[in-house]
Amino acid sequence: MSAESFYLTTPIYYVNSVPHLGTAYTTVAADALARYRRMTGSDVHYLTGLDEHGQKVAQAAEEAGVSPQEWCDSIAPRFVEAWEMLGITNDDFIRTTEERHKRGVQAFWQALHDAGYLYQGHYEGWYCVPCETYFTTEQVNAHECPSCGRGVEFIREDNWFFKLSEFGDRLLELYETRSAEGRPFIRPETRSNEVLSFVKGGLKDLSISRTTFTWGVPLPFGEGHVTYVWIDALLNYITAIGYGDPEKAEEFARRWPAQYHFVGKDIIRFHCVIWPAMLMAAGLEVPECVYAHGFLLTKGEKMSKSKGNAQTPASLVERFGVDAYRYYFLRDVRFGEDGSISMESMVQRYNGDLANDWGNLCSRLFNMTEKYFEGVVPAPPTGAPTDADTSLRGFADALPGAYETAMARLDYGTALEAAWDLIKDANRYIESEAPWNLAKAEETLPRLAAVIYNALEAVRVAALFCAPVMPGTSAEVWNRLGLGNIHAVTDISAAASWGQLPAGNAVSKGDPLFPRIYEES
Ligand code: MSP
Repeated sequence: MSAESFYLTTPIYYVNSVPHLGTAYTTVAADALARYRRMTGSDVHYLTGLDEHGQKVAQAAEEAGVSPQEWCDSIAPRFVEAWEMLGITNDDFIRTTEERHKRGVQAFWQALHDAGYLYQGHYEGWYCVPCETYFTTEQVNAHECPSCGRGVEFIREDNWFFKLSEFGDRLLELYETRSAEGRPFIRPETRSNEVLSFVKGGLKDLSISRTTFTWGVPLPFGEGHVTYVWIDALLNYITAIGYGDPEKAEEFARRWPAQYHFVGKDIIRFHCVIWPAMLMAAGLEVPECVYAHGFLLTKGEKMSKSKGNAQTPASLVERFGVDAYRYYFLRDVRFGEDGSISMESMVQRYNGDLANDWGNLCSRLFNMTEKYFEGVVPAPPTGAPTDADTSLRGFADALPGAYETAMARLDYGTALEAAWDLIKDANRYIESEAPWNLAKAEETLPRLAAVIYNALEAVRVAALFCAPVMPGTSAEVWNRLGLGNIHAVTDISAAASWGQLPAGNAVSKGDPLFPRIYEES
């Protein structure tokens, strides 16, 4: 039987700016889940990419004095490089200017047109270019966008409309049924109220085309109309896996519906209202879950490039390393909620959790293995376990279950805490068993071997569960233990079962995994 498909996506990012901590946050979180699901045996397909059309991008290109396509082509490598730097293992990267996407968008329009869900009309209202969103006169306040506070422009256009207003009841039914089934469509569930009251307030038909500029996918009917950028963008989730391409019908059927769309809370309405309605209109299934995480805040404010309060991912990676970067954002910010980030808390997490707890545990143990056993894993213990042995093994045995429960809720913090319970107990174990004392007398040498074996085994298991978040250092720990490629594991639970570290493996000391950082700013 072939492995279960696990399709997850991030938003596709606008190319008007380069990658920043906010866009990296979603991408890293999705990557940790993608890596974990590969380790639980799913056939993962992780998609990210770029939103290259629309007025905002056209304007950025104009300001730079180049064509929109040239602009996109110059920014795209910045994203590819940033995701490589952050260890992102996306299986595909879609750009909305690609042919495969344009073809899919046009096929979609034709399907909706044929099904009678589109009509021509006249639109008058306000448009916010930075948000690429329409607003009514009641929504805008003194010519300011109700979402970002920047200026809006009045537009008057003959447009094509999508009969979104017909989908209110079906959407409410979707949210309700899924919640009743215990698999909510909108997660965390606390975010569903906003969506529910918006839908209950009555949906208006949606203008889906623009005629005042040309940087978009042309409608297959309706000369001079290009697709409204949000509609264009949402469709990436299906065009990337072959929608509209008869040769990819099998792939599409296998991948769709997606398990997760990861999004920031700012774009929840597009994903939880417009997107499922579009899919329903086209007779397609809706995704399993839209997960909307919170904002990263610095000094209480949403961090964004326009506010100029953003550190770059590259500067932090340079200072802390990529694994510590990934760890910090997933451990210190509760996924799903807003969270404050600061250099101080990053240094603290780094020195406390990574340098002291995890890095130090590995260093001490690898050193002692060298010192007492000539760098070779001793034989596993055969006698009855002591209370300390039982406790250590208990944490290791509990870890797969606790980690899975947390990851099923996308609670990265709790998943990491479960790994840390084992790491901390291993540190306690070394302190209480004091191998340096056991090494002093001939009769305690068997116990010394038992202690080192058990502690190394705990490290082997801990590395497995650190791997989705900290892939590089976990692979390194397995290397130093003389084990195979940790990223080839496809049954993490079986791999974690106690006692698999082969006696006789050569252990190498290596440099500290997380050298302590001294200055605090
Ligand atoms: N192009 C649209 C998305 C289309 S998806 C079909 C878009 N792009 S964006 O470049 O503005 O990226 C928005 C996403 O970046 C947010 O939804 C969120 O995932 C991430 N973030 C941007 N700033 C953020 C924070 N300060 N904090 C956390 N995430 C943030 O919207």
